[in-house]
Amino acid sequence: MLKTHSCGELNRAHIGTQVTLAGWVDRRRDHGGLIFIDLRDREGIVQVVFNPATSKSCHQTANEMRSEYVVSINGRVALRPPGTENTKLPSGEVEVIAENTAILNPAKTPPFYINEDVEVEESLRLRYRYLDLRRPRMQQNLLLRYRVVKFMRHFLDARGFVEVETPILIKSTPVGARDYLVPSRLYPGKFYALPQSPQQLKQLLMVAGIEKYFQIARCFRDEDTRADRQPEFTQLDLEMSFVEEEDILELIEALFTSMVETVKPDLQLIKPFPRLSYAEAMERYGTDKPDLRFGLEIGDLSDIAAQTSFSVFRSAIAKGGKVKGISMPGGANYTRSQLEELNKLVQGLGAEGLLTVSLGTAAGNLDDLTVAMVKSVAAKFLTLDQVKAMAKRLGARLGDLLLIVAAKPELVATVLGELRQEMGYRLKLADSGRLAFAFVVDFPLFKPGEKKGQWTPMHHPFTAPKDKDVSLLDTAPEKVGGKHYDVVCNGYELGGGSLRIYTSQMQRKLFSLLGYSTKQVDELFGHLLEAFDYGAPPHGGIALGIDRVVMLLAGEGTIREVIAFPKNQSAADLTLNAPSPVTEEQLAELHLRLREE
Ligand code: AMO
Repeated sequence: MLKTHSCGELNRAHIGTQVTLAGWVDRRRDHGGLIFIDLRDREGIVQVVFNPATSKSCHQTANEMRSEYVVSINGRVALRPPGTENTKLPSGEVEVIAENTAILNPAKTPPFYINEDVEVEESLRLRYRYLDLRRPRMQQNLLLRYRVVKFMRHFLDARGFVEVETPILIKSTPVGARDYLVPSRLYPGKFYALPQSPQQLKQLLMVAGIEKYFQIARCFRDEDTRADRQPEFTQLDLEMSFVEEEDILELIEALFTSMVETVKPDLQLIKPFPRLSYAEAMERYGTDKPDLRFGLEIGDLSDIAAQTSFSVFRSAIAKGGKVKGISMPGGANYTRSQLEELNKLVQGLGAEGLLTVSLGTAAGNLDDLTVAMVKSVAAKFLTLDQVKAMAKRLGARLGDLLLIVAAKPELVATVLGELRQEMGYRLKLADSGRLAFAFVVDFPLFKPGEKKGQWTPMHHPFTAPKDKDVSLLDTAPEKVGGKHYDVVCNGYELGGGSLRIYTSQMQRKLFSLLGYSTKQVDELFGHLLEAFDYGAPPHGGIALGIDRVVMLLAGEGTIREVIAFPKNQSAADLTLNAPSPVTEEQLAELHLRLREE
């Protein structure tokens, strides 16, 4: 090794030790006679002193060093003179007196500061990701990610799981998002697809008798990129035979609980994880991935609204809509422009508008509310009793602000769900030091498809219907429950899974309800159906989004911060500059010709 110690590990215990260090120049200060260098490596920073009285040539070399030069230093660890200690550094009590040094490689001036935690435009960070990753915060994120994955492997290994790799070049099946396709050289006109998840392969492994499988699986989905979505991402994918829903939920709760305690013990956790039905989550939080770090629950005001003379309420209800709201503690003091901002947010989500009702200026008991205190554009259409009844339903007090939306039920849920989350952040209730995990269960098996009368799976077509609802498959598919569960945390879906269909007969039935012809089913899913006829065990599983898990543990706002080389928001890799054109020869080999746009 070109080094005997790492920079960050040096402390009082090393005083007098001769060390060889190697790393990057974090900062260089020339104090006339003495030159100081902060030397940085993965473990941290240590101060190095170049004194011409100790070594003239060393001092001369240090004179040439600049930020990000790669250098090696040999010298003796010494206590810093009293008063010059740096309490911010673990190595801040000591310094290394350089006796020998070498510049291993000079460096250009980096396009942004590596030694300061300043905002840098993301495209620049991604273009020079290798420099961005040198920054301590990013190093910590990568390290955390490594520890999380290592923990997952150990945890599952101890419970008898076996890690099995599944192929990356698979068959395209139109389930879920758009596939990434790979043209075949050997089979003109045919394509492989990159897996959106190893779903069917892990089910085949259950038929193969593996019983407990897991994989740190790379998945690919050609869908719009978002803060918590990348075209390429990683799952902890697992599947078990002979299990019930409860077994999987217990496993996942134990995994998350001990993972947080092991890798991020300072984060607070709510135990046991609450369980919500899908219907309850939608009703109370307007979303199936509620942020349970705070209340601000949605209340249904439709019955009260129907009694008012406010035409917006009445006409929404007459059209089969709902009137619902949330109460924002202390929000009655919101200014006109703040209210306008909320209105814009709501309109951006597709609602016509937001009705705000302000309940006096000071905190107090709702019973003391008077007509004069109520501020709202709808005030003259609401009696004091109606305002009180609505406020009570939303758990409001004097000084609070009611935020009310009247629209179609799904839109009301979406808008208030988003508004609730936004308020949680604004009121600083969504603190990243807490992890509010929960399971969402009892999902419907289907949701309405794009065309009328068409159904699409709520999860995927391999999820089993609830036993009690099988008889409803033909008569009332909308009422059929699925054996599907999600694990959510702080407003994100961290994972989803289900107990699976394991007979070809039921699987065929599902595909036919989803509108596939027998021919299509045989072509697309024949491999799975055939396997089910050779003794498939009852099985189920789940997949957790590792990027999202690490993002929450790291307290970051996007998964790009916890992926070494992520795609940007337009799905491009700015480090490698991909996607990129290929040569005519490459295309010809693949039997492809580009169409003029
Ligand atoms: P699902 O599609 O719900 O289930 O995915 C499971 C988890 O993977 C993460 N995830 C993503 N993370 C980042 N970027 C994306 N584009 C992305 N898409 C999904 C989420 C999500 O909860 N085969 C099934 C699992 C099963 O049934 O066992 C599946 O893939 O955290």
